[in-house]
Parts: sequence; structure tokens; C-alpha cells
Amino acid sequence: MFGKLSSIAVLAACVTSAVSEETEFKLFAYGKLASSGLQLFYGDGQAYVGGTPSYVKESVNISLVMADGGDKFVAKANTTASAWSTDPTMYVDLTEGATNPIGFTQDNETLPSGASSVGFGLYGGWAFHKNDDADIEMKFLATPTNETGVYLVKWNAASTKVSDAIPISLRTQAPVALDDK
Ligand SMILES: *[C@@H]1O[C@H](CO)[C@@H](O)[C@H](O)[C@H]1NC(C)=O
Ligand SMILES: *[C@@H]1O[C@H](CO)[C@@H](O)[C@H](O)[C@H]1NC(C)=O
Ligand SMILES: *[C@@H]1O[C@H](CO)[C@@H](O)[C@H](O)[C@H]1NC(C)=O
Ligand SMILES: *[C@@H]1O[C@H](CO)[C@@H](O)[C@H](O)[C@H]1NC(C)=O
Repeated sequence: MFGKLSSIAVLAACVTSAVSEETEFKLFAYGKLASSGLQLFYGDGQAYVGGTPSYVKESVNISLVMADGGDKFVAKANTTASAWSTDPTMYVDLTEGATNPIGFTQDNETLPSGASSVGFGLYGGWAFHKNDDADIEMKFLATPTNETGVYLVKWNAASTKVSDAIPISLRTQAPVALDDK
């Protein structure tokens, strides 16, 4: 009897957490980059890791949420001064053979042709995209900008090796400081 009650309590706790408030998370790039665990930022509607280049007009330190258990990644600005009327949603360009930057659109903006803003998810803290009945995919690339340590994030719909681009994974796991080891 006691065992049964406690498992009900555990079950109730799980259900509660599943329907709880939107949880904010940040994404960090891991891979053969100059340094690992580079944070993802918003720059003029595109995704960068390691910071944003100085030439972007709007650079925003973002967190992401998956709204109400949905499959969209919605950006939340780490500032109260954001001019966003609605929070931008991340998209990937699934056009066959394309390796285009990952972007963000507002509700009032149309997605580029071939792009998808649904199908995002986290698998054990690893960001993925899943298109309809396809498998989950983690085809993230980082391409160096002309500023040290700052990379533009792209989606490799081509699935082939792209020169100058570094395959990365995007994870919610923040980098561990060396001192903490
Ligand atoms: C971005 O925001 C987080 C808190 O949400 C903070 O810890 C981090 O230092 C900020 N990064 C930059 C570069 O401002
Ligand atoms: C934004 O980032 C700063 C550090 O850069 C942090 O102190 C602050 O708590 C963050 N605010 C939010 C709303 O995340
Ligand atoms: C969407 O709304 C924002 C803010 O209201 C505005 O700045 C932007 O120009 C709009 N975009 C389009 C494509 O209408
Ligand atoms: C870096 O790249 C941006 C975007 O392509 C360009 O506008 C800028 O002039 C470049 N800066 C240098 C120093 O080459």
C-alpha cells in the first residue's frame, strides 16, 4: 500500500513537471571549434555561436523556450530593451542540397521557401530537428566569420562535407570551467 502511494506521488510529480511553465534554456556549440561550449546568440535574424560579429546591427543574448511542449524553438531576449513585438522563432532551411544559415522569423514574417520552424526538439539536452516522418537530425554546422571565435550556424541539408564548415552539436549543457574538473 505504501509503495503504491509513493509511486502515485512520483507519477503525479512527473505529470506536473511535464505541464509546467516554459523552461528557458541556452544552447552551446560543441565540436572541433577553437574552444568548446560556445554560446548561441541572435544577430540580425541569424544564429551565431561564440558571440555576434561587430557588423550586425542587432545582437541579442538569447535563451530559448519550447512553448507548451511544442516543437518550436522561440527566442527570448536577455534584455528588457528588446524591440521585438513577438519573440522570433528559429528555422532551418531543408532545401535539398542547401547549407543555409539558421535563422529566426517574427510571426508577421514569412519563412524563406524550403524553411521549417517546426520539428525542433531536445534529446537528452541535444538539439535536433525532425521533419515529418524523417529521423531526427542534428546537421548543425559552424562556419567561421571574419571575426575570431565567432561562427555563423548553418543547417547541412546537403549531408555532405562542406569546406570551411565545422560539424557541431548544439547542447543545453553549459561548458564546464577547467577549474571545476
Ligand atoms: C548572456 O546571458 C546570460 C544570462 O542569461 C549570462 O550568464 C551571460 O553572461 C550573458 N552573456 C553575455 C555575453 O552577455
Ligand atoms: C541577462 O544577462 C545578465 C548577464 O549578462 C544577467 O545578469 C541577467 O540575469 C540576465 N537576464 C535575464 C532576464 O536572463
Ligand atoms: C514585423 O513587425 C515588426 C515589429 O512590429 C516590424 O518591425 C517588422 O517590419 C514587421 N515585418 C514585416 C515583414 O512586416
Ligand atoms: C566581415 O564580413 C562582413 C560580412 O560579410 C563584411 O561586411 C565586413 O566588411 C567584413 N570585415 C572585414 C574586416 O573584412
